[in-house]
Amino acid sequence: MDRDIIEALLRVVEVKDACTAAHTWRVALYTQLISESAGLDRDEVLRLMYAAVLHDIGKIDIPHRILAKPGRLTAAEFKIIKTHTILGYDRLRRMGETDSVTLALVRSHHERLDGSGYPDGLSGAEIPTAASCFAVIDTFDAMTSVRPYRPRVGHGAAETALAELKAGAGTRYCPEAVELLAARYECGELDWILSYFNDEQPVASGSGYDAPLIATAGRELSQRWRRGEASPFGPSRVVSRGDAD
Ligand SMILES: [Fe+2]
Repeated sequence: MDRDIIEALLRVVEVKDACTAAHTWRVALYTQLISESAGLDRDEVLRLMYAAVLHDIGKIDIPHRILAKPGRLTAAEFKIIKTHTILGYDRLRRMGETDSVTLALVRSHHERLDGSGYPDGLSGAEIPTAASCFAVIDTFDAMTSVRPYRPRVGHGAAETALAELKAGAGTRYCPEAVELLAARYECGELDWILSYFNDEQPVASGSGYDAPLIATAGRELSQRWRRGEASPFGPSRVVSRGDAD
């Protein structure tokens, strides 16, 4: 898919829900780091990053009142949220997207190895590899991002998330992806992403993040990407443990 179209879609996400936009940028950055550390070449890394950027695009079609609801979702609301996988997949196909990695990741990033995920209840090798690996990153970010009930994140949240991922490695989560993510965390390489739009940003009840801030930062990242820099989202900024918590 053309970069201009991806950027236009992201602008819509930013306007609709800044929290999803911040999540999108962080998971793209984690995807870059993890796929580079897995030894993938630049084209493969970029392909996965495009897919990561688009993974929640179906949320465009979910009502804002549900996306931004500060409290617990009802069963009916959660059922609606779950449809973002199919909605995103259908939307991209209608737009002419044919890349198998992107389509698989958008549709299947909430599947789990034991078959407990959605939307298709796939299990084990039925789940496309890229989606299975990305699910680990997506889950990690969901557990380490600022929420109304979790106003600050730090190493405590990251360690809890990694413990849960390790406990589910091989049963719910792709073990290789869990191992790669844990290794990068141990090296301190995830710290700057963990705090990206996440550190000490007070979340006003129900209002999410500061949308203009996200949009400005997103545009800067897009410009780097457009310039075709070797590392499209800029070099990974490794910070030493202790600087970020
Ligand atoms: Fe999702």
